[in-house]
Amino acid sequence: MLFSSKSEIVQHQKKGPALFRIDLHAPEICGEARPGQFVHLKVEERGYHPLLRRPFSIYDLDRQEGVLSITYKVVGLGTEILSQKRQGETLEIMGPLGRPFTQWKEDQKIIMVAGGVGYAPLNFLARELLGRNIKLEVLLGARKEEELVGEEDLKAMGIAPEIAVEEGPRGFAGRVTELLKRKLEEESFHRLYSCGPCSMLKEVTRISREKSLKGEVSLESIMACGVGACLGCAFPVNEGSSESKLEVSIGESSGPKTSYQRVCVEGPTFSLEEVF
Ligand SMILES: Cc1cc2nc3c(=O)[nH]c(=O)nc-3n(C[C@H](O)[C@H](O)[C@H](O)COP(=O)(O)OP(=O)(O)OC[C@H]3O[C@@H](n4cnc5c(N)ncnc54)[C@H](O)[C@@H]3O)c2cc1C
Ligand code: FES
Repeated sequence: MLFSSKSEIVQHQKKGPALFRIDLHAPEICGEARPGQFVHLKVEERGYHPLLRRPFSIYDLDRQEGVLSITYKVVGLGTEILSQKRQGETLEIMGPLGRPFTQWKEDQKIIMVAGGVGYAPLNFLARELLGRNIKLEVLLGARKEEELVGEEDLKAMGIAPEIAVEEGPRGFAGRVTELLKRKLEEESFHRLYSCGPCSMLKEVTRISREKSLKGEVSLESIMACGVGACLGCAFPVNEGSSESKLEVSIGESSGPKTSYQRVCVEGPTFSLEEVF
C-alpha cells in the first residue's frame, strides 16, 4: 500500500561535510516498508520550486516509534534545500515505493558491497538480517574517508565492516570492487547485495558473474513521477530474468534481448542477471 502524507522532522543531523541523516515521523510507511524500498520527498523552497520530488532509500526504521530515517548526500538544489530543513518542520513524503530486496535465507553467508551513500538501502537490509542466523560481511567503499557511510551504524549492530578508501589513508587503499575481487578469491558467499554509483555496480556485476555469485543491486536513476507513469527512469534490462516487465523490446537481434524496465516500479532492486 502506498501512503502520502505530511511528515514531521524528528531529528536532522549533519554526518559529514555533505552528508546528513534525517528522521521523519511516518508511521504508516514504517508499517509497510521493506529493505530496498524508497520514499519520494517534496523538498520545495517556496511554492512549487523545485517541482519534482526527490527519491531516497529507506536507511532505517523504528516501527514502534513510527520513525523512518534517510541518509543523504547534498549534490544539487533539492538536497541543498533539504539540508536547510529544521526539526519540527514538515515534509511531504510518499512511500514505500519500489521492489524490495529478496531471496535471502536462513543459514546463508551474505556479502554486501556499498559505494558511499549507496550504503543507504543496505543498512535497512543489514538490520533485517540481524538475528536470522545469517553470516553477513560488509564492504564499504568511498573515494575519500569523509564520504564513507554506515560504519558507525554497522558497528552498533555488531558488524565490523571492511573499508576501502581510494585516496587513503584508512583500510584498503583502492576501490571497493578490488577489495571484493580479493575477498571472493578467499571465500565464497551464497548471495551479494550492492548499491553505489553505476560504474561500481557494473564492475560488481562482472566480478559476481565470474564467480557465479547470485544477488541483487539497487539502481539509482534520475526519477520524475516515482510511480511508474512517466517512463523517465527506464533502464535496459536483460530479458528472460525478471518477473514483471514493460513490453518494450529494442531490436530483433539474435543475441540476448533487452527490454526497458522502470527503476521506480520494477526496481530499484534488480537481480545480477538482469542488469548490465
Ligand atoms: C531509488 C533511489 C534511491 C536513492 N536513495 C538515495 C539515498 O538514500 N541517499 C542519497 O543521498 N541519494 C539517494 N538517491 C539519489 C538522490 O535521489 C539524488 O541525489 C537527488 O534526487 C538529487 O537531487 P538534487 O535536487 O539535490 O540534485 P539535482 O540538482 O537534481 O542534480 C544534481 C546532480 O546530481 C545528479 N543526480 C540527480 N539525481 C540523481 C539520481 N537519482 N542518481 C544519480 N545522480 C543523480 C544530477 O545528474 C546532477 O549531476 C536515490 C535515488 C534513487 C533513484
Ligand atoms: S520515475 Fe516516472 S516511471 Fe519511474
